[in-house]
Amino acid sequence: MSLYERRALLKFLAASPALAGLVTLSDALADERARASAADALDIFDLETAAQPLVPPAHWGYLQSGVDGDTTLRANEAAFSRYQLRARRFVDVSHIDLSTNLFGASLASPVIYCPIGSLRALHPEGEVAVARAAKAKGALQILSTQASFSVEEVTAARGAPVWFQLYTTNQFEVTKKLLKRAQSAGCPVVAVTVDLPAGRNTVTATRLRRKDARNCSGCHTVDENGNPRPNLATKPMFAGIDTQGLGLTSASLTWDFVRRLKDSTTMKVVIKGIETGEDAVLAVKHGADGLIVSNHGGRALESGRGTIESLPEVVQGAAGRVPVLVDGGVRRGTDVYKALALGASAVGIGRPYVWGLAAFGQAGAERVLDILNLELRFAMAGCGAPTIREISSGTIIDSAPTRGR
Ligand code: FNR
Repeated sequence: MSLYERRALLKFLAASPALAGLVTLSDALADERARASAADALDIFDLETAAQPLVPPAHWGYLQSGVDGDTTLRANEAAFSRYQLRARRFVDVSHIDLSTNLFGASLASPVIYCPIGSLRALHPEGEVAVARAAKAKGALQILSTQASFSVEEVTAARGAPVWFQLYTTNQFEVTKKLLKRAQSAGCPVVAVTVDLPAGRNTVTATRLRRKDARNCSGCHTVDENGNPRPNLATKPMFAGIDTQGLGLTSASLTWDFVRRLKDSTTMKVVIKGIETGEDAVLAVKHGADGLIVSNHGGRALESGRGTIESLPEVVQGAAGRVPVLVDGGVRRGTDVYKALALGASAVGIGRPYVWGLAAFGQAGAERVLDILNLELRFAMAGCGAPTIREISSGTIIDSAPTRGR
């Protein structure tokens, strides 16, 4: 039985009414927690197991939730199994190089930290701990508009610029202030998230919130549908901004918004949340500098495809004119490999690094990258690709091609 399985069993026993009062079990659990370290995790699911007991139910629900029945969330992970790798032999793979380049900046590996809001709800050092992990690992971090720390604090901890994720807001004057602040902090790229135009129903999050007796109104309220509405006044990126009537997104935006953004900043504008070839063509036509294939980790449209299934048509639509990144459901180094073989320039992870963060702070976020990079390294060796550039579409096969467009 692994350390994490043992911890899960102890937790179950400690919570069992039949065994209530047996202090020794809780003690044993605390002991296990104290002994465990990030290095004990063999795969990223060990970190998920390690994180859950440490996070209050409402915050765990926030992290784990999709929308409605969580179908898209599950599809993101499951869709990777539709693709298999084609091994190649007698290629010199004695030196595997994971490094790559994005908009002229070098990255130690193509795996990047996606923007996740309010990370202090999962660990007291939140985005700053992630920035330190990114620094230690030479990784890219994209900071959420809703981050618990400011872009200046995170940039200082990273020791280098991060990308800024922008929610469009419903007031362009506020949007421009956010852009100006990110640009002044040195962000080279703004990733504008476009996949949440008009609300959602986060059922799993709401269910778990009902199990949590704490008063959370300082950080968020609920909207008319009972879904959490962030209290933007508490978010560092909104300091000094009048948040009365301010929404994070707007339902009325159209493609001309991309041009307005481009005209308001010198940062590169990457669109996060593209899922179709048609939209890839339109995004490039309207001036996007890059695309991120994303469905918000299954937290936007229900009954969608896994993002890995959307990637090929977006790559085709972009036609090599701009880089295409992808995130959603990446849980193994082989998933990263598959995305690269299908044409992605880099691959984002969301929940996995937050599991690491919640369990072990900076060390946990680092461990997630180490695990995925190790698995990616072995996939590259097995497929005869010593460098990222040499990962070819010939090493991946789609076992369900008729399900494509
Ligand atoms: C997110 N995501 C997200 N995206 C974004 O553009 N801005 C944000 O503030 C957030 N916040 C956020 C919170 C939580 C709890 C989750 C799980 C996700 C989406 C995120 O950037 C990314 O697209 C997904 O997390 C990728 O999917 P996986 O790796 O979590 O499966």
